[in-house]
Amino acid sequence: MNTKYRKTIIAGNWKMNMLASDVKPFVDELKTYLPKTRSCDTVLCVPAVNICSMLKYGKEAKIICGAQDVSEHDKGAYTGDISAAQLNDIGVKYCIVGHSERRAYYAEGDLKVNAKVKKLLENKIHPIICVGESLEQREKNLTMSHINYQIRAALSGIELSELRHCVIAYEPIWAIGTGKTATSEQAQEVCCEIRAIIREMYGARPARSISILYGGSMNAKNAAELLAQPDVDGGLIGGASLKPADFAEIIKATGADNE
Ligand code: 13P
Repeated sequence: MNTKYRKTIIAGNWKMNMLASDVKPFVDELKTYLPKTRSCDTVLCVPAVNICSMLKYGKEAKIICGAQDVSEHDKGAYTGDISAAQLNDIGVKYCIVGHSERRAYYAEGDLKVNAKVKKLLENKIHPIICVGESLEQREKNLTMSHINYQIRAALSGIELSELRHCVIAYEPIWAIGTGKTATSEQAQEVCCEIRAIIREMYGARPARSISILYGGSMNAKNAAELLAQPDVDGGLIGGASLKPADFAEIIKATGADNE
């Protein structure tokens, strides 16, 4: 982390877990573990049906509510979709885009990811843009070229003034839900490369100030080491964000309890 130049963000991704009725007990328990002041943004990206509960109960605990997906369209006949305007209307501040699960199970390609990023920015929601390589790509030494492609595609047509509202999350697919975390060196290497790509695209200042998160089996035990890497500015956490005690430990690993 480099707290001088950029925001630290700890974002949970609940995926398709938890009921709306679980939100209040979760927040109540989380609050008991958290320091009063935090220097990181604490975000929970919850299922769409839990957003209103999270907005209501998370506020006191300074939890910023995020969504997990958004439509690439403005409005209309897109049954089941939720638009960026609808998310903004109820108070959603962050939204995950291009998660590898959506890319894999819903054939979400880079064009769609880019369109979603644009819709979110138009509606004043911070996109958390996920990129990451498969195990096969890593083994074939294709990690950096794949990341390079994904970043450039996701940010295609995004102005410098919009970039400052974007967050990037490096999530190696082989580390998601597998318990197999990237080593801190691997996480740092790719997050550093992502910053170098942003530097090439937008210049040194924006590259220095964009927050880049690591995701993939981050937990209470390994968070401190991952977050200690200079180019890792936070985490995108799946499984461990479902357990208040574990999620709180990750938040504390940002050093937030020193305040
Ligand atoms: P896990 O932390 O469960 O590996 O999930 C990571 C993830 O996909 C967050 O978006």
